[in-house]
Amino acid sequence: MALHLGDIAPNFVQKSTAGDIDFHAWLGSSWGLLFSHPKDFTPVCTTELGSTAKLKDEFARRDVKVLAVSVDALDSHSLWVNDINETQNTTVDFPVLADPDHTVSDLYDMIHPNANDTLTVRSVFFIDPKKKIRATITYPASTGRNFNEILRVIDSLQLTDSYSVATPANWNVGDDVIIVPSLQDPEVLKQKFPKGYTVVKPYLRITPQPDLKLNPPQGTK
Ligand code: BEZ
Repeated sequence: MALHLGDIAPNFVQKSTAGDIDFHAWLGSSWGLLFSHPKDFTPVCTTELGSTAKLKDEFARRDVKVLAVSVDALDSHSLWVNDINETQNTTVDFPVLADPDHTVSDLYDMIHPNANDTLTVRSVFFIDPKKKIRATITYPASTGRNFNEILRVIDSLQLTDSYSVATPANWNVGDDVIIVPSLQDPEVLKQKFPKGYTVVKPYLRITPQPDLKLNPPQGTK
């Protein structure tokens, strides 16, 4: 059955390059990013895992634990990680799950048979500290993901959890945000948005971004 936003991310126990992982226990009280790779020793996946490794500090300061999954076996993963470190000039220090029995791929519906009946697509699951799936992204094997966009989604989720705001199209950290339409009490508005706000339409109220202890991403290079 397909997973929906708001569902609890299914738990699993599976081998990884960092030992056996019981997913929920491993996540603890952190955010999680679970993302699938069609196959080991493939070029796009190699660049994606390299880009993710280079963003280690960005994920850490957002308290996000990163977990990759590929349907290949553990011995293959270990050799592939050596290649990634060598070719991408980095160190992959997050776990890569082995999923030859498709436990995780099936639980998370990562194999789309009309695209390919054995390899996963490029799925991304954003999971919050309560283990809820908060966002998903799905790309085909031929399109490498944009990891700055992944950080941007995390920033939006974390900001909107802390304040009664939503983020507009193409928002980035530091840009103005939107006050949620359900908030109408003028006293509450004054208290929550001391920087003030602009009413463009009654349903479109813009305010400077409330303080979030984040800076724009440093980039993946
Ligand atoms: C890649 O990662 O380069 C890739 C994987 C599967 C199919 C096509 C490309």
